[in-house]
Amino acid sequence: MPDIGSKQHQQLSSSSSLLMTFTLNFGIVGLGGISETFARDLLTNPLDRGVSDVNHKLVAAGSSSDKKARDFLERVGASSATAYSSYEDVYNDPNVTVVYIGTPHSHHYHNARDALHAGKHVLVEKPAVITADQMRALAQLAQQKHLTLMEAKWTRFFPMLKEIENKVHSGVIGDVKQVHADFGQTFTGVSSDHRIFNLNLGGGSIMDLMPYPLIWVFSVLFYHPANKLCKPSVRGATCIKNQYGVDEMTTALLKFPGIDADAVLSSNINVGSISTLVVRGTHGELVVNDLPLSRPLSYEIRLRDTTNPNPDDQQRKTTTYHHPIPHHGMHWEADEMARLIAAGESQSQRVPWDDSVLSAELLDDIRSQAGIKFPAAIESV
Ligand SMILES: NC(=O)c1ccc[n+]([C@@H]2O[C@H](COP(=O)([O-])OP(=O)(O)OC[C@H]3O[C@@H](n4cnc5c(N)ncnc54)[C@H](OP(=O)(O)O)[C@@H]3O)[C@@H](O)[C@H]2O)c1
Repeated sequence: MPDIGSKQHQQLSSSSSLLMTFTLNFGIVGLGGISETFARDLLTNPLDRGVSDVNHKLVAAGSSSDKKARDFLERVGASSATAYSSYEDVYNDPNVTVVYIGTPHSHHYHNARDALHAGKHVLVEKPAVITADQMRALAQLAQQKHLTLMEAKWTRFFPMLKEIENKVHSGVIGDVKQVHADFGQTFTGVSSDHRIFNLNLGGGSIMDLMPYPLIWVFSVLFYHPANKLCKPSVRGATCIKNQYGVDEMTTALLKFPGIDADAVLSSNINVGSISTLVVRGTHGELVVNDLPLSRPLSYEIRLRDTTNPNPDDQQRKTTTYHHPIPHHGMHWEADEMARLIAAGESQSQRVPWDDSVLSAELLDDIRSQAGIKFPAAIESV
């Protein structure tokens, strides 16, 4: 059981009855774009997604300015929550059980470390860290302090991703041989001082968008039972830099030796794209061809007509599956945090610390091979 305050203890005790709903008190720091989307999802009715065991409350928000925090809380419909002009005040607020970190990637490690030191559970936006060493340090700290820590890989919790995982793992498209995962988002027209163009803030497509191709490739290949959690290796990575020195487009080639399959991952911040996931198997393909790869709403299974003996000429029988998402879809990761904290679990089975360490290791390797070097200050532990 984590070392939690008496108030939170009372919450946990009352949630021990299956008839009770466990309410998790969130504090949010870094009130930019994604924090607002997250806060709005947090405050939706859990019954909209068929959830009744957990619920969420936004009790505090910390920002660079008091006015920004108050305006944020007003906008998302949580004006009774406390607005703070510093992140530390959120970490030290006894009403806050868990801190959601929505700052630029460069700040995640230090913010998460400060919140854990203050005794708070932490849900930290993707990528959780700049380097794998930072993730190892955070995991060690969370373990020492018996606190829950999770990288906000929200897509891992989508019912559609779980269904795809099950289908691929159970052999619906045969033995998986290759995956192509691409995610692009247009940042043209965005102000040149945006974090995406700033190396000091971990800018570029590798850190911002490559986590999604990795999430999908982990789901279908790394977690495939035949792979037996055998780590992939980066066989090559290359990028095109823009005038700010960040990567505007990157491609990486990964080998999964445990399952003898390959993956091509690509990301870009200049043209965007209809994000694509193609999982190629011996019986056909599973295709996600929808916007965006972080929250697609449909996929297709295309099975080969094996009556034609020539594999290259085989037609496909295509079936499409639709999965509408209630609200934006970030509530499912919040539900996971609530269940973990209520159960006294330090890490999630869907996004364990090893998963975050491995994706950080791969991103370290991709950056190194693509020739992207961040300032030492944001890589420090
Ligand atoms: N899960 C998703 O779908 C998703 C989508 C987009 C982004 N993200 C992730 O979420 C994080 C934030 O992205 P965002 O698009 O929300 O960023 P954003 O709009 O730029 O907001 C970031 C916030 O962080 C705070 N901040 C602290 N130091 C800063 C600095 N030096 N420069 C700029 N902001 C600073 C600011 O809030 P205060 O002034 O309130 O302190 C700022 O509003 C990134 O790590 C990104 O990868 C995730």
